[in-house]
Amino acid sequence: MLRDRFGRSIDYLRLSVTDRCDLRCSYCIPKGFKNFEEPANWLGFAEIQRVVAAFARLGCHRIRLTGGEPLLRRNLPELIGMLASLPGVDDLSLSTNGTQLATQAGALKAAGLQRLNVSLDSLRRDCVASISGSDSLQQVLQGLSVARDAGFASIKINMVPLAGINDRDIDAMLAYCKAHGFILRLIEAMPMGHTGQQADGLDLSQLLSSLSQRHGLTPSAVSLGGGPARYWQSQDGSCTLGLITPMSQHFCASCNRVRLSVDGTLYMCLGQEEKLELRPLLRAGCSDAELEAAIRTAIELKPERHEFQQQPQQIMRFMSMTGG
Ligand code: 5AD
Ligand code: SF4
Repeated sequence: MLRDRFGRSIDYLRLSVTDRCDLRCSYCIPKGFKNFEEPANWLGFAEIQRVVAAFARLGCHRIRLTGGEPLLRRNLPELIGMLASLPGVDDLSLSTNGTQLATQAGALKAAGLQRLNVSLDSLRRDCVASISGSDSLQQVLQGLSVARDAGFASIKINMVPLAGINDRDIDAMLAYCKAHGFILRLIEAMPMGHTGQQADGLDLSQLLSSLSQRHGLTPSAVSLGGGPARYWQSQDGSCTLGLITPMSQHFCASCNRVRLSVDGTLYMCLGQEEKLELRPLLRAGCSDAELEAAIRTAIELKPERHEFQQQPQQIMRFMSMTGG
């Protein structure tokens, strides 16, 4: 088992397979951003597989692929197959913006991907275009429809409510998710990079009572996916809403994850700088024992909590660099 200095067991690795994205969501990547990682520094599939295998041997059984936009990484289903076949990888999921899902969902499912999270901030075409910088709504809805038919174990929709921009869309999003069997999760914007710092994210703790009253939702004990979302459900179970509140009610005490960026850097916390670079080790031909020792050393560095409220200017990385 991987256990950090604060007694938290780390059983979840989020793995960014690219820092590039075809969208430019206002709270994430700045328009005109060019400073992407050089391909020579991307971990190759065999290197990623080696790192994930080491994590799995250390008791970290759940893996999520993220980005940037992970479906932009060429031959991603091949990597999914390589990870799905590893002993000890029990849960394999992916976070995507959905623009490429219509063509890729079937191959991802066939390769062994189990669960899917899709970002979508509105059902209004203009609103999606203005937040994401691209007229992508129809493509994403089409992708979601294909993904639903492909038979994933669960599909969650991630929405970042922004004051005066898409906050009025929450009810429509909930109705859409209910109709399609998706789970809606609302996420508080975090001050990552100047984009995240400028985002006017809603305080979801304040929104909760009116939302739950309007939709007849009561707190649910379910922990879908084992992450930080807290869930509310309607009596008949037909509607589930998740809230992720890093700002208004942080959940650092139960944090169970670390993140691997595309260049092979292990980040210990979204809101802090502690990290350990695995790429130099991998490329110097380290042994499995050395790799495992490096991972244990990194876990020792995991800080107690983020300081997004106290030090909102602290993190200059955009979310796309470490994966959300
Ligand atoms: N705060 C919160 N969530 C963010 N995401 C990107 N940037 C931020 C931010 N500043 C989320 C997106 C998506 C995932 C890739 O990361 O909503 O679901
Ligand atoms: Fe791309 Fe996701 Fe960032 Fe939007 S939030 S720009 S879809 S990585």
